[in-house]
Amino acid sequence: MGVLDRDLLLAVVKEARRAPSARNQQPARWRLRDDVVELLEDPARRLPACDPSGRDHRLALGAAWEGTRIALSTRGLRFDDEVLAAVPDEEGVVACGRVVDGGMRDLFADVVMQRATWRGPLLPVPSHVLGDVAADLEPLGAVLVQNPAIIEEAARVVDDATATHLLRPSAIEELVTWLRLSRDHPSWDRDGLNAEMLNLSPFAARLQSLALRRGPLSQLHRARLAHHVVGEAAQVRSASGLIAVLAPVDEIEIVTGARLYRVWLTVTSAGLHACPMSALTADESVCAAFRGALGLPSSWRLVHLWRLGRAPRAVPLSPRLPAEELVS
Ligand SMILES: Cc1cc2nc3c(=O)[nH]c(=O)nc-3n(C[C@H](O)[C@H](O)[C@H](O)COP(=O)(O)O)c2cc1C
Repeated sequence: MGVLDRDLLLAVVKEARRAPSARNQQPARWRLRDDVVELLEDPARRLPACDPSGRDHRLALGAAWEGTRIALSTRGLRFDDEVLAAVPDEEGVVACGRVVDGGMRDLFADVVMQRATWRGPLLPVPSHVLGDVAADLEPLGAVLVQNPAIIEEAARVVDDATATHLLRPSAIEELVTWLRLSRDHPSWDRDGLNAEMLNLSPFAARLQSLALRRGPLSQLHRARLAHHVVGEAAQVRSASGLIAVLAPVDEIEIVTGARLYRVWLTVTSAGLHACPMSALTADESVCAAFRGALGLPSSWRLVHLWRLGRAPRAVPLSPRLPAEELVS
């Protein structure tokens, strides 16, 4: 009898599935072969229009793998002989590891079930807390940016970068498939971005869902609508800092994604909230401008920029697919 069976893997996945993913698309699936856990991608959950390079997809897979490691640690288990791949193999496997007894409970095990994206305005963070967070982020390859000029520049460009990204018809169509603006949506509590997660009032959500249902809308109208859903300048201006998630240029994204999750759990441990702004680094010229402003050496990539601050109230957890659907 091995150290892991399907019931135990299901319990592990219930925690590992809390890892973040772009649009809450939840691309990770798990499979048990004897004592080897495999992480597979669900290719149907790629975001070909909004994430054509697959960067955010692979980052999410890396985060899910890290989530698996953390969940195993709470049961006195750990990976041995781990293999992480740059891209999924022909069966979709991106990571595998033999599970053995031993290892310490992960430092972040207690905050996994508390981490949540907060997209609304942020309250200021005392400078001593920011100092502690900056020190904790450094070994994880992330930098806390407190320069007001860089924060203002992010606020100035974020909505245009998002709109440029979304004005492509395929991108807007794809975004719409992940929006759940009414509780009646069959996937409201399964995946995607629901109105509650987007911090939309019931009235704003109702208006937008009516507009989206109003037959064939012009792309421009839909883009404006989406722009309204994702307009973020004011929220960026309310941030106490930006987190720049960095990676060595030769690091595979699964590994970066695992580290990205630890960056986020560091933020949660400090009682703070973050929100990634993928559009700022998906656009090459915008990303290059921030790279320059941060003075990054050419051996490092700027993976993501997040806004950081304190949420004004408790943030509800976003939905996840049932663990039984994620394990084969
Ligand atoms: C790679 C990646 C990219 C993301 N990009 C964005 C983004 O551009 N804007 C945003 O509001 N949230 C972004 N998120 C946050 C996800 O939408 C969020 O993690 C997901 O909806 C699940 O919600 P949770 O973080 O509250 O669990 C991103 C998350 C990941 C992992």
